Amino acid sequence: MSKPGVGPNQLFVLPVGAFSHSPLFLSALSYATLARRPKRVVGGAPFGALLLSPPPGGTCKRHGLGGHMVNLVQIGMGGMGETWLKTVLASSEAHYCAFVEVNDEVARTQVAKYKLDGDHVYRTLPEALRALACEGKQVDGVLIITPPRFHKEQSIQALEAGLPVLSEKPLADTIEAARDIVEMAERTGKLHMVAQNYRYSQPVQTLRATLGELGKVGAVCVQFFKGPHFGGFREEMPYPLIVDMSIHHFDMMRYLLDADLVSLKGYSWNPEWSWYKGDASATLGLRLESRQFGPVYASYTASWCSRGSETPWNGNWRFECENGVINLVDDMVRVQEPGTEPRLIEPVPLAH
Ligand SMILES: NC(=O)c1ccc[n+]([C@@H]2O[C@H](COP(=O)([O-])OP(=O)(O)OC[C@H]3O[C@@H](n4cnc5c(N)ncnc54)[C@H](O)[C@@H]3O)[C@@H](O)[C@H]2O)c1
Repeated sequence: MSKPGVGPNQLFVLPVGAFSHSPLFLSALSYATLARRPKRVVGGAPFGALLLSPPPGGTCKRHGLGGHMVNLVQIGMGGMGETWLKTVLASSEAHYCAFVEVNDEVARTQVAKYKLDGDHVYRTLPEALRALACEGKQVDGVLIITPPRFHKEQSIQALEAGLPVLSEKPLADTIEAARDIVEMAERTGKLHMVAQNYRYSQPVQTLRATLGELGKVGAVCVQFFKGPHFGGFREEMPYPLIVDMSIHHFDMMRYLLDADLVSLKGYSWNPEWSWYKGDASATLGLRLESRQFGPVYASYTASWCSRGSETPWNGNWRFECENGVINLVDDMVRVQEPGTEPRLIEPVPLAH
């Protein structure tokens, strides 16, 4: 396999079950991790309650771990870490006992902005856990909101300390790192889960409630095009699109179809005009086995360096069904039966 970003185009042919060094397989492994623990993903203490927490100003009817507030250490306070700060601070079931952040400026800013306890910000997780132990403070879990290359070290430190982990996607940045995390979770018997928020969005929930209305699903076509200039780790990493973005769409595929990946083939490449070092474009063919629909074939074409006509973050989806077509376009779900006009589906209310 050639190096990312330097071409020529790369072909992956990956039967799931045989480990490969491809980052595409990393995504498959990430599914597998979730697939083995479906109940714990939604309801697993201590994070299930947190995932079901209301938005700021909302109310929450569930109560932590049997009435006990869940004590969390969050690693990474900037970027997406800020979204988690708002989520946890709005929760009636979880609160922070410490933070880990390597950028002092980010730490100072967030402590001031969210009135956090600045005495409990550390530079590493072991340092934070030692300090909390000295103070006799209980820790119930660790949130990892750092760039993907740190997920392995931090996940393993937490699991070895006997703590469950809720990590931002992707599971890790390489297949070896992903395997090590899974092995450590299995060895310690502690929950390790990957946050996959796209499946809980209203368009995806509406689509899921609609699928099945037109009989079996035979094929899926997904298109995703955006051109964000993030700076930071995404512009430096080997496969930014597949590892940091497409993982959301693969998780949606698995969730929407109640399916696991069987095999995939595809190309990833980096257009000449790309501002990423690694491959920012991909086109894949996937075969999935759905518990609801049987075999489903999917095509996936995506770019993170598109110059226009962007899709939503969810992408645009077309489901070829036994009795018609179901589309998700611009985050709106439409159903069309043969000989009829497309029918817009009302968004379903969300759970909280
Ligand atoms: N689910 C989503 O929709 C979503 C959206 C954005 C990002 N993410 C994920 O969140 C993770 C973080 O992405 P981001 O955009 O917030 O990155 P970022 O670079 O903007 O922020 C990362 C933060 O972690 C800190 N950090 C870096 N290395 C650290 C270390 N070793 N120890 C402690 N702190 C460290 C940085 O100083 C920074 O404050 C990634 O895995 C990314 O894929 C998920």
